[in-house]
Amino acid sequence: TVEKPWSGRFTEPTDVFVEAFTASVGFDQRLYAYDIQGSIAHAQMLAHVGVLTHEESAQIVQGLREIEQDIREGRWQWSIALEDVHMNIEHRLTEKIGLVGKKLHTGRSRNDQVATDIRLYLRDAIDEIGRELRRFLEQLAQLAETEAETILPGFTHLQSAQPVTFGHHLLAWCEMLLRDQARLRECRRRVNVMPLGAAALAGTSYPIDRAYTATLLGFESVAENSLDAVSDRDFAIEFAAVSATLMMHLSRFSEELILWSSAQFQFIELSDAFCTGSSIMPQKKNPDVPELVRGKTGRVYGHLFSLLTLMKAQPLAYNKDNQEDKEPIFDVIDTVRGCLKVYADMIPAIRVNREKMRAAALAGFTTATDLADYLVRKGLAFRDAHEVVGQVVRYCVVNAYHLEALPLEVFKQFSAEIEADIYAVLTLEGSVAARNHFGGTAPQQVREAIIRLRERW
Ligand code: ARG
Repeated sequence: TVEKPWSGRFTEPTDVFVEAFTASVGFDQRLYAYDIQGSIAHAQMLAHVGVLTHEESAQIVQGLREIEQDIREGRWQWSIALEDVHMNIEHRLTEKIGLVGKKLHTGRSRNDQVATDIRLYLRDAIDEIGRELRRFLEQLAQLAETEAETILPGFTHLQSAQPVTFGHHLLAWCEMLLRDQARLRECRRRVNVMPLGAAALAGTSYPIDRAYTATLLGFESVAENSLDAVSDRDFAIEFAAVSATLMMHLSRFSEELILWSSAQFQFIELSDAFCTGSSIMPQKKNPDVPELVRGKTGRVYGHLFSLLTLMKAQPLAYNKDNQEDKEPIFDVIDTVRGCLKVYADMIPAIRVNREKMRAAALAGFTTATDLADYLVRKGLAFRDAHEVVGQVVRYCVVNAYHLEALPLEVFKQFSAEIEADIYAVLTLEGSVAARNHFGGTAPQQVREAIIRLRERW
């Protein structure tokens, strides 16, 4: 058994089950590269202020770099007896370089160390997630460009409402993702604050230079208050909240993709590479990827609640409860990154069935509002026009007509104001082209929105 770094005041060994119960190395080993990065910066700062000699600091740095390589290349065994990633690495350092390794922890605590590690880890993860998000956005914008003129029914209450262009619909998704991207950037700023130097909770009596360490680690600022620095986890809660909102958006996309690839809609077909079959029903091709993304939304919401509840009512400063922050954070990162990646990969492989979209738009009286607007232009009040068109639609339902197929004599029975020019108004193309203002669904607006979009991400 290994000697614990804190064994001095203890007379009895740790209970075997308690040792495993309290250990975090099983999961916090993921932080190892960041733990070493933080330790290297700390050692260099200690030499910079004269607490360590440059020779000592160089030995520590060299030892830590070797350890990093050993771990990366698998020449390594994590020990539960050494509890966490921090003590495992420090213990090995002393084995490697002897007495001077024991000086690394001068002016530091695992409390500020772990807070620093998670922030470094999360900062990189946010950047990676940001890159996948950007890639997903680019794919959506690309598809929107190709489908700028494609018409499908827009829905409210999942009932056909008005024709919209598919490009416009795709750009709605882009807007949600752009807001997620902005929230992620905001969150990154609050992650990128350095707790190191807070030590256990009160700071340290050594003449540390926190700004120096922060520069080495690329932190934008230094935590103002040592008590807050070691106990704050709201950066993680914020990240989980941003992620939960992003997943909520992905779940909405997923739902549409699933609906649209059903036999009832057939608006799109997902490529075989992103679907699976059924072990009993030979005809099945299931949209597993969107279904899984929709499902994974739940676990991210769950992690947000875990973190909020973990922090609820915790007194200052560090408490061991905080060790429970890591698994939720890691799983949020993995989940969000994976979902974005699979969607960025999947979008270009979507086959769009323009004919089915068009047929659905034609079937749902989706240009009824255009007929009402036409009557308003002829002088009717909108409410009266609404009533007239309602009667026309009822007639069409009973007599199985599409609106634009109704003979002019029939139209005239409902309103004498209706002339032959109504047919141009009632086409799907006429309907979408008419909505030609900023934020509207007209193909021209879609193209202009895509140009702006590409300057906004
Ligand atoms: N494994 C611990 C954590 O995850 C590191 C900090 C431990 N600090 C302490 N005083 N026990 O939070």
